Amino acid sequence: MCGIVAYIGAKEPLPIVLDGLQRLEYRGYDSAGVFISEGTKQQITKVVGKVAALREALSEKEVLTSKLGMGHTRWATHGQPAHENAHPHVSNSGDLILIHNGIIENYDILKKELQQRGYQFQSETDSEVLINWIEEVQKTENVKLGKAVQLALNQVIGAYGIVVYDRRNPEELVVACLGSPIAIGLDKEGFFVGSDATPFLDHTREVIYLDDNELALLQPGKTIQVRKIDDDSLQTPTVQQLKWNLENIQKGGFPHFMLKEIHEQPNALRDTLRGRLLAEEGKIQISSFNEHHQKFANARRIIIVACGTSWHAGLVGEYLIESFARIPVEVEYASEFRYRNPIIYPDDIVIPISQSGETADTLAALKLAKAAGAFIYGVCNVVGSTISRETHSGMYTHAGPEIGVASTKAFITQIAVLTLIALKLAEIKGTQSKSELRQLLFELDSVPDQLESLIEQKEKVKEVAEKIHAAPNCLYLGRGYNFPVALEGALKLKEISYIHAEGYPAAEMKHGPIALIDEAMPVIVIATRKGHYEKIVSNIQEIKSRKGVIIGIVSQGDSAVKEMANYCIEIPESSECFTPLFATLPLQFLSYYIAVLRDCNVDQPRNLAKSVTVE
Ligand code: AGP
Repeated sequence: MCGIVAYIGAKEPLPIVLDGLQRLEYRGYDSAGVFISEGTKQQITKVVGKVAALREALSEKEVLTSKLGMGHTRWATHGQPAHENAHPHVSNSGDLILIHNGIIENYDILKKELQQRGYQFQSETDSEVLINWIEEVQKTENVKLGKAVQLALNQVIGAYGIVVYDRRNPEELVVACLGSPIAIGLDKEGFFVGSDATPFLDHTREVIYLDDNELALLQPGKTIQVRKIDDDSLQTPTVQQLKWNLENIQKGGFPHFMLKEIHEQPNALRDTLRGRLLAEEGKIQISSFNEHHQKFANARRIIIVACGTSWHAGLVGEYLIESFARIPVEVEYASEFRYRNPIIYPDDIVIPISQSGETADTLAALKLAKAAGAFIYGVCNVVGSTISRETHSGMYTHAGPEIGVASTKAFITQIAVLTLIALKLAEIKGTQSKSELRQLLFELDSVPDQLESLIEQKEKVKEVAEKIHAAPNCLYLGRGYNFPVALEGALKLKEISYIHAEGYPAAEMKHGPIALIDEAMPVIVIATRKGHYEKIVSNIQEIKSRKGVIIGIVSQGDSAVKEMANYCIEIPESSECFTPLFATLPLQFLSYYIAVLRDCNVDQPRNLAKSVTVE
């Protein structure tokens, strides 16, 4: 996720901004930039790469002494990591400067309108559209910056945390947010701004967190003025005294990035679905599908290639696509696919799935399929990554940076993207009725909120973790859509707690793994009401008669499994196809709490790397 830092006041801003950006590095980014201003003089410096490179670029310049500074680290969402896409962005007149976190969904419409009015764009970003939209509003309404920002934001759909500066009024900064946080640090001499409080913790502990839909005017020497963006009502902001240490703040108050990322999943999912799932209209909008409509309409087969957690998401994708769109799907370990001389047809669609977009085996599998003439449609999280660049087309998951080595929000958002793909293909192929599709879209739309409530079950999961954390082995069972979830649950546990764990399709148990079951074996069984419930109940009976410790992941209000299981975690009742989105969450919590109880390094487990860029 992008990082924002700004300062206006009596201190020298450049060191504050650069140190602040460095502090935000934990958020992940691919380019960085700063703007400093003294009266009529301004300087913008941008680099693709790290803050260290930005410092170097600045060291080669004669830098202004200034009164105001704005800095940004960019995690690409619209447009690749490139100099022109890096922030700050400048309006066409050169008067307005902006740094922005978030995604402007209707940027395309706004951009077209601005182009018709003669505006030109240097970058591919939604942020450059936003600053020019603000400029246009300011011109047509003939208002001050604060009002122009407010009016413009009322026409914007999306999420933003922004800092805007008008060089004709150098004593003021305008900040605003909706769905992307803004923290304002206060001291006697000026104002600090950050996408969280990390950048200015050395300077002040007094902070105001803007609420969503709020805009603030920062003028040194004057009291901060906060208004609601939609109804213009004046707000009384609460000044908080920060007691957290730096590390705590970077992790949003969570002890580990993994835990933070598990909690981020409802929002990550909202970002994935935003602008694509139009439930009210009963539509899925995927622009790359329009461009390649024929390819999708004629697809003979889909081959998914991936590794690890992404491969598990691919397996869920197989169930989704085959069931809804009736197109045959094969899911391949990229490392096997690349070396086994696979049969690839020109009317195959190959979908490489990768969080990092840099996994060596997935990249090699992609290249092989591309050379064989297949259409490559990627699903990646990191914008501008090698895999995303090598594909013909694709979708980003928009999960935001994932820092914990154990993948969590990437998995959930990959499944969400695959759900959108499956339902869109069903629409194209006519394999589902309009009313069925509509029903599914409404249900999908409600998943992020339900996931939010599910997080509240974590204390129960923690109690289970306390009971089983010393076990040397664990078995995970699931059927249908939840077989891949069982695999993912087992992988998570192995990765971060070093407990040997196996995932199996529940019915396969009696073909071997049942021999392992005794009173020392915890067996985690996903037994949701929709999807082979009776059969799973029989499997659970088999485990019970062998004295296994049963942990059931069940639908709300379940009774049959509860009677037999030692512990149960309830998840919301949903259509079977959405159960992976819910069942995954307790399994992530379980492995997390077990790892903590075993005193393991949760975020950087031994022997593992976040991106496996070698074979
Ligand atoms: C997941 O927790 C793992 N760390 C790992 O299996 C990962 O999913 C795999 O290496 C693939 O990575 P990618 O999604 O970045 O390609």
